[in-house]
Amino acid sequence: MGQVLAFDHPLIQHKIAMLRDKDTNTKDFRDLVSEIAMLMCYEVTRGLKTVDKDVETPVGVAHCKVLAGKDVCFVPVLRAGLGMVDGVLKLIPMAKVGHIGLYRDPKTFEPVEYYCKLPQDIAEREVVVLDPMLATGGSASAAITFIKQRGATRIKLMNLIAAPEGIRRILQDHPDVDMFCAAIDEKLNDHAYIIPGLGDAGDRLFGTK
Ligand code: PRP
Ligand code: URA
Repeated sequence: MGQVLAFDHPLIQHKIAMLRDKDTNTKDFRDLVSEIAMLMCYEVTRGLKTVDKDVETPVGVAHCKVLAGKDVCFVPVLRAGLGMVDGVLKLIPMAKVGHIGLYRDPKTFEPVEYYCKLPQDIAEREVVVLDPMLATGGSASAAITFIKQRGATRIKLMNLIAAPEGIRRILQDHPDVDMFCAAIDEKLNDHAYIIPGLGDAGDRLFGTK
């Protein structure tokens, strides 16, 4: 069964509070999403494998550890997942980035795919799916299914705010996937929005409402 890790670090909690505030403007919202993603990435990538490497310093040889083999592949779910990409790439600049375009049908809340471009060698990489919001879990579940169809077996899901309904859905559909989130909220409303949540993440990131 996949694990669910909710971050209780004070810096992350503080920034999540600012992110939720309805008066936070688009620029600050974007900066916060990026900063929180970077802080979370540090922990999400804790299990990456390393190999020994001797490094010559100006005065000797240091026995170091460096990342082994192929790096990570980050996969933001469009649109809102794009807001997390800058932050995680600050930590792992050599990572590849795949993109999956999904939007929720406003009536059925089911995900509709409109774009999918993943690296050829995704099967050899550790994949981290990025989306600020996990509501019903339909979008994240569909994204993970696409990635598995391309052969990837090591997949993690990183959300800023998750609803219990979404967590249950991922545990059921993808019990092999570990989930990382900065906050677990109460519930969904009748429009499948997370309560209290932060509203529509895509619209707040890109100023489209
Ligand atoms: C939002 C969000 C997730 C999805 C979560 O995207 O970014 O992808 O909803 O909902 P779910 O867990 O119920 O599937 P949205 O469909 O609003 O598209 P956008 O990112 O383009 O705004
Ligand atoms: N998508 C969002 O952007 N916000 C929610 O609360 C649910 C889905």
